[in-house]
Amino acid sequence: MSAALASPDRIGERVVYDHHIGGARVPPASGTRFESRNPYTGEVWAEIAHGNAADVDRAVAAASAAFPSWSRMQPSARGRLLGRLADLIVTQADRLAEIEVRDNGKLLQEMASQTRYIAEWYRYFGGLADKLEGSVIPTDKADIFNYTRYEPLGVIGMITPWNSPLLLLTWKLAPALAAGNVAVIKPSEFTSASTLEFMELFAEAGFPAGVVNTVTGFGHDVGAALVEHPDVKKIAFTGSDASGQKIYEAAARQIKHVTLELGGKSPNIVFEDADLEAAVLGVVSGIFAATGQTCIAGSRLVLQRSIHDRFVDELLKVAGAARIGDPMLPMTNVGPVATKPQYDKVVEYIEIAKREGATCVLGGGPYRGEGARGDQFVAPTIFTGVHNTMRIAREEVFGPVLAIIPFDTEEEAYAIANDTAYGLGAGVWTSDIGRAFRASEQIQAGTVWVNTYRALSYTSPFGGYKRSGLGREGGLESIKEYVQTKSVWISTRPDKSYPFVMK
Ligand code: NAI
Ligand code: MG
Repeated sequence: MSAALASPDRIGERVVYDHHIGGARVPPASGTRFESRNPYTGEVWAEIAHGNAADVDRAVAAASAAFPSWSRMQPSARGRLLGRLADLIVTQADRLAEIEVRDNGKLLQEMASQTRYIAEWYRYFGGLADKLEGSVIPTDKADIFNYTRYEPLGVIGMITPWNSPLLLLTWKLAPALAAGNVAVIKPSEFTSASTLEFMELFAEAGFPAGVVNTVTGFGHDVGAALVEHPDVKKIAFTGSDASGQKIYEAAARQIKHVTLELGGKSPNIVFEDADLEAAVLGVVSGIFAATGQTCIAGSRLVLQRSIHDRFVDELLKVAGAARIGDPMLPMTNVGPVATKPQYDKVVEYIEIAKREGATCVLGGGPYRGEGARGDQFVAPTIFTGVHNTMRIAREEVFGPVLAIIPFDTEEEAYAIANDTAYGLGAGVWTSDIGRAFRASEQIQAGTVWVNTYRALSYTSPFGGYKRSGLGREGGLESIKEYVQTKSVWISTRPDKSYPFVMK
């Protein structure tokens, strides 16, 4: 086997990764690999197995072979395994975070808090494994005992993006495994390493081989083959709405289940009665944390005109002081953009906003100043005078670019907030309790934060309205995304009723 575990002291050397299938490292059928780059240094640090449909077949076969005994294992025993995995994650979290930073350039602070936090998802859903209780249903029929069972779907295909690889995988994997499903995972071609390293923990925790499998490669070959595979019963996807739509269309041809989490154009609404200091920090966390590369980026600041100039001044002070640089250093606030195509896209959107007539009051293009290295830094950028019809207000940029849209009345604020194809998150900043409730009713989004932003927990459902997606991840209800309901009818006496009509 050519793969070697990456350890942080191997920076500079290339690490070679194979697929992870049936509990073993399996070289790609193609015999070829593609390069993974560190976005901060620009260096190639890993070579990743270039998968194809043959590798997907092999992984789906391994998962299918593991499914019968995994799904019949006592749910409490499955839960205990998930708990053991959680304990191992805690010991490996910092190492996994460093690998993610090497691949996506996001801050070590952020990635380490994510990799530590994912343990809680496995604990929570491990605890739920033996609480998937069906019902005994009183029917209108005589001599019938009717009850429901929740049964796992089978092999779940999980397709993840580059911005938070292990966190977004965990949102799918923890409930799916708890409910008795098995998985074939395709991580982003930009950030495959942390998922492959994570796979190693499952054997150590005592999971049977084949319960989790990872095939690396590109969306158009490995991803598409997974979606098309007839033995894959569901696709759980996080990524762009364009790819999500393609996956949904392909899944529809086989009436396959999907959950889709597709990003957004989330509004952060600041009313004149807000605690302005908190609101400024909330707006900054919404758009400049993670260099804006989050599905819940608060990329539209919907700002009451009466406080507009004062608020923008304060915002510029905080955002303008953000320290740009090495994502591994604890003092860094804003790192590079994760991938070259993403960098090009962000820079292009800044140009589009300028052409559309928005006023750039901060940043406005590539950043090559102090702290920068490589060629993927974009300056934190703020546009004022944005109209909600402009592309900068309608399309997901996925970078550190904020569009400020003024409003006068509360009704106007909600109209602007909802005038979008998306509906993932929304922030509301107000000290009026009635307005907080009105806003949380009026806004069409899967998550509404009042006087906070970017808060998430394994206990609470997360997902989108409108083009932001289908299904929920997190919380009690999310485990139901990974089961199907069977209704069982048992006649308590021999049924000798007239056979030619419905009972
Ligand atoms: P993408 O949606 O193309 O990629 C996400 C995952 O889907 C990757 O693993 C990719 O290989 C796979 N994939 C792509 N096309 C596929 C297909 N036809 N069938 C099966 N799998 C497929 O996202 P990409 O290109 O990395 O980023 C583009 C844009 O997507 C970003 O600029 C951003 O706007 C958005 N995005 C949203 C995310 C979110 O959290 N909602 C995360 C990452 C990107
Ligand atoms: Mg990379």
